[in-house]
Amino acid sequence: MRLIHLGEVDSTQNYIKLHPELSPRTAVLASRQTAGRGRLGRSFASPENLGMYLSVVLPPDTQNITPIAAVAGRKALARAQVDCGIKWVNDLVVERGGAFRKLCGILAELSGGRLILGVGIDIGQRERDFPPELRPICTSVALEGGRTVTPREMAEIFLEELDRTLALDADALYDEYSAHCVTIGRAVEVKRVPSDPGRPAVAVALDRDFAVEVAYPDGEREVVFSGEASLRLG
Ligand code: BTN
Repeated sequence: MRLIHLGEVDSTQNYIKLHPELSPRTAVLASRQTAGRGRLGRSFASPENLGMYLSVVLPPDTQNITPIAAVAGRKALARAQVDCGIKWVNDLVVERGGAFRKLCGILAELSGGRLILGVGIDIGQRERDFPPELRPICTSVALEGGRTVTPREMAEIFLEELDRTLALDADALYDEYSAHCVTIGRAVEVKRVPSDPGRPAVAVALDRDFAVEVAYPDGEREVVFSGEASLRLG
């Protein structure tokens, strides 16, 4: 992979969209984003040099990119001595005191015939670096006692792991993802849209397409696909 390292951008996702000449296997890392974007229209706080803000151009027909990125991110974090779980479908989390805290988010977008994979990893943040409302639910490599890594080193490690994970066959990817998915077997709330109050359920199984089967208290079962609903760990 080719890595371009920029200083400040609004969002590395937007930067790639504005540069159609950037071809697959090109990655863009920014030291700071002024308008980092998350899923579902949320923003992604991107303070200077405290996190890895990386977008990667991939061919548009790449299958299962979100699970692939989650597995690669987990392995990259393990190399920084942080053991994390995958919260379906696209967050990497660490369990502390019975609650899950997020330290990596993944956003995949199709644009202009390219797949743009965005990955944000919180690395150097201390508690005070997160906005007060995020402090109970976020963490970072530093807060988890991981080894000291720069965002650039983390990007290089992540890209190595991404290449390895892209080469896995479907069974190996499923095994790796499901072995670390913390959602299965837990109480969840199924939300169709962000304003949805959420319907309580239990996540009972992960199918081969990475959809989750949920069971509601009245016995009804449903298969939930990513992009269609989110599962809040209850
Ligand atoms: C999420 O948690 O909902 C996804 C967060 C994705 C953040 C990354 S940081 C690099 C890339 N540029 C962006 O604006 N977003 C992604």
